[in-house]
Amino acid sequence: MSNHYSRRSFLKTAGSVAAVSTLPIAWVELAFAKAEQNFTFAYISDSHIQHIRGNKFVNNWDRGLIRAVAETNLITPKPDFVMFGGDLAQLGTKAELDHGAGMLAKLNAPLKMVMGEHDYYLDLGEYWSKLFGPQYYSFDHKGVHFVVLNSILTHDEWTFNRWPTAEQRMLEMAGLDNPNGSPFMVGEKQREWLKKDLANIKKDTPIVVFSHSPIQKIYKGWNFWTDDAEEVQALLAPFDKVNVVYGHVHQIQYNQIGNIAFNSVMATAWPWPYPSTYAQAETYLPKLTIPMNRADPFFERDATGWQMVNVNTGRVDLTYNLYNNRSRTVAFDHKRGHPADTQFQDVSLEPNRTHY
Ligand SMILES: [Fe+2]
Ligand SMILES: [Fe+2]
Repeated sequence: MSNHYSRRSFLKTAGSVAAVSTLPIAWVELAFAKAEQNFTFAYISDSHIQHIRGNKFVNNWDRGLIRAVAETNLITPKPDFVMFGGDLAQLGTKAELDHGAGMLAKLNAPLKMVMGEHDYYLDLGEYWSKLFGPQYYSFDHKGVHFVVLNSILTHDEWTFNRWPTAEQRMLEMAGLDNPNGSPFMVGEKQREWLKKDLANIKKDTPIVVFSHSPIQKIYKGWNFWTDDAEEVQALLAPFDKVNVVYGHVHQIQYNQIGNIAFNSVMATAWPWPYPSTYAQAETYLPKLTIPMNRADPFFERDATGWQMVNVNTGRVDLTYNLYNNRSRTVAFDHKRGHPADTQFQDVSLEPNRTHY
């Protein structure tokens, strides 16, 4: 990636700082902090591993995840870690989660997990947590504070009292446009935890939040939505640079709300259409998002893939490695102050073209 600090330029900077010993200490700190915050990690999401019966699984979804893991393992230098963005399983069963975990175990970099609704609503995340640990947590890496949220919780009444069986609850939440579903939320308990977690973080520390659903309101009908998004955004408002990276939508989206840059990731399983193409639905996309073209809507591998994420100057740049399309990079445009597609030709230059 062209905006990488190369190791050589870092050594040069560090060397010249050391040589001029009269430089104010803040400059020295700044030089090191900037280089430290420039690193990459990989992001794989939404594999939807689906059990058929016995030891049979849907082959197409398996292939998507296997390919992402294999390609991630080939990157040099190695990504610092790999995020998995949720919806590892289709219906949250032990068979699906075990099968998915087995494929992820082949990664040769440390793995961190986000909870998706397809992983959760059968046993409320019990088996997933046994395999992968806590459902929300934070960690620090090279000067950046990372927060992982479980954003797919919903009202207790819906979760505990509405459905005669856990299987039915799972199926109701698994449908994209099922009116029996319920809006996702982070919830009060986790927001309290987040408030405490952020209490000791310096305001100029870059923050990257990982969630499954977008921490913004895009389209409620498909749960491209988090009901308490504004409350979570308010907790993030005091920080200079905040980035939210989310899965669930199976398509490229980007947006900027105040200090928060939003980027979605693609699925390895299948692409969802953009809500704006769904004629019966009253909908909108974030103003900045230009829907991507899909050459062949019936080609299952079209518009699927995985991402490399570069953390540069406290912002995230996402390179989408599309399995059967040209790769695409959405990078933070520091002049304009929001994420932008680096290759896309401005719509004003392409009259009479509809971008979906
Ligand atoms: Fe998904
Ligand atoms: Fe999802």
